[in-house]
Amino acid sequence: MTKHFLNLSDAGGDAIAAMIANAIDRKAARASWPKGRVDADAPLAGHTLAMIFEKNSTRTRVSFDMAIRQLGGTSLILDSATTQLGRGETIADTARVLSRMCDAIMIRTDDHAKIEEMAHYATVPVINGLTDLSHPCQIVADLLTVVEHGVALPGSQWAWLGDGNNVLHSIIEAAGLLKFDVRVAVPEGYEPDASFAAAAQAQGARISLTRDAGEAVAGADIVVTDTWISMGQAHAEEKLAAMMPYQVTPALMTGAKPQAKFLHCLPAHRGEEVTADVIDGPQSLIWDEAENRIHAQKSVLLWALGHLG
Ligand code: CP
Ligand code: NVA
Repeated sequence: MTKHFLNLSDAGGDAIAAMIANAIDRKAARASWPKGRVDADAPLAGHTLAMIFEKNSTRTRVSFDMAIRQLGGTSLILDSATTQLGRGETIADTARVLSRMCDAIMIRTDDHAKIEEMAHYATVPVINGLTDLSHPCQIVADLLTVVEHGVALPGSQWAWLGDGNNVLHSIIEAAGLLKFDVRVAVPEGYEPDASFAAAAQAQGARISLTRDAGEAVAGADIVVTDTWISMGQAHAEEKLAAMMPYQVTPALMTGAKPQAKFLHCLPAHRGEEVTADVIDGPQSLIWDEAENRIHAQKSVLLWALGHLG
């Protein structure tokens, strides 16, 4: 059966734990190597990843490109403007054609239904490089980063501040799969999709919603935020104003555990969702988190292509 990765639950908790462990091993095995050198076992030699971007990207684009290179394969970067997708060729036909020519497809798009359609018609793995609904690859990197910094995931306390968006959905999904707790502090009208919390709670995670940023971070191990205006959303002063009480500041961070870590998937807007002294301060793991996109994406590719879990 083709192994698609549209959401974290497509892999499940055991496979995600295996992805994290594999990423730690592979990262250690190539420490200080040139970044383009192929891993000693070149597990995906001869494989080609097609990447389709219908939205901007720096990290996802570069990390998947470097990931497949390090695994011994190659990538093709496509976008709507220069392919027939931009002229109305269907996702279904694009999926069928790319499946005949390439070994896996990574797509970043807007409507999650598009990636579901792609997966329905593709006969090679389809990987979600972000949709309006979720960003599972980012969260594999976040989990790897947290584990690398000595936090045991089960029972850990995560605090999310700001917008109830795609990144939060995947964090909540991870909480259910890996048994940690998430306190979500968002303004009214910007709550995450309730189905993610319901699924995580059914798996034993505690997911709570508050309007009080201080309550969310109290005693937290991990404090996370993201842009207040995601790609595809209109810049709205009203939304920015509603988000302001949820800005991650040094004062807010003092409510978390003294050793608490700060995460942000980037790109960041210093002075909006987080102040510069937090994101550039000692508790911030953002550069490890960004680098770990490569190591995490390698694990996702290995899992999807049947080399892991
Ligand atoms: N975090 C993340 O997905 O970054 P890009 O938008 O640059 O890919
Ligand atoms: N929530 C953000 C994440 C960017 C990586 C967005 O969708 O734009």
